Amino acid sequence: MKVAFEKYGKGMPIVLLHAFPLSRKMWKQQINVLVESDCYVILPDFRGFGETQIASDKTTMEDLANDIRELLDHLEIEKAIIGGLSMGGYVTLNLYRLHPEKFAAMILADTSSLADTEEKRLGRFSLIEKTLTHGMNAIIEEMLPHLTSDYTKACNPDLIKQLEKEFLQTDPEGAIAALRGMAERLDHTDMLPEISVPTLLIFGREDKVTNLDGARLLNNKIPNSKLEIIEDIGH
Ligand code: MLT
Repeated sequence: MKVAFEKYGKGMPIVLLHAFPLSRKMWKQQINVLVESDCYVILPDFRGFGETQIASDKTTMEDLANDIRELLDHLEIEKAIIGGLSMGGYVTLNLYRLHPEKFAAMILADTSSLADTEEKRLGRFSLIEKTLTHGMNAIIEEMLPHLTSDYTKACNPDLIKQLEKEFLQTDPEGAIAALRGMAERLDHTDMLPEISVPTLLIFGREDKVTNLDGARLLNNKIPNSKLEIIEDIGH
């Protein structure tokens, strides 16, 4: 699988995995600060997002994890700090289950170790139907209002416009394939006590998509983990 990616800087490799239905562009605010901290920053686009081609009508979290493993091999990186936000976090947990030796440390941001509930799964299938008819507008209507906090909506309206623009740049077929994959992702809660690398958990206090109960579960079960909560911020 040919994964599109950008890389910046020199030093400790850090791979950041984007959320649904975005692309590697979502990390642009983080690049400079990480490069200035002597990091070698690697930002991939998952298959079906950004500049990476869709491969089939279902994108499993394991597919995405294996693509990242191949990318690390291609870049001859033995170990990296690997982290992701939301769907990027689901992929991070899958990658740890499949290839724990690739991790120097882990970052899980606004994500969950839990599988979808039946209700959530049915919601994804209904969103797939709407997206088949209305394209990315269906996902904008259903998801975008819940992603940001009231504070962000009031103080940073440009961000909401930017997110909407980025949603519209996503291929609906790529988004649908990932919705199918997220609906059937495994529950990783039993694996959490086995995570032996330092793990940073970053959550917005107002996150309504994943939430602080999930964050505390991760914090309680991952032995060497630290939870940072960002006030006033959503998903
Ligand atoms: C994301 O931000 O990646 C999505 O909200 C994840 C999800 O739909 O479970």
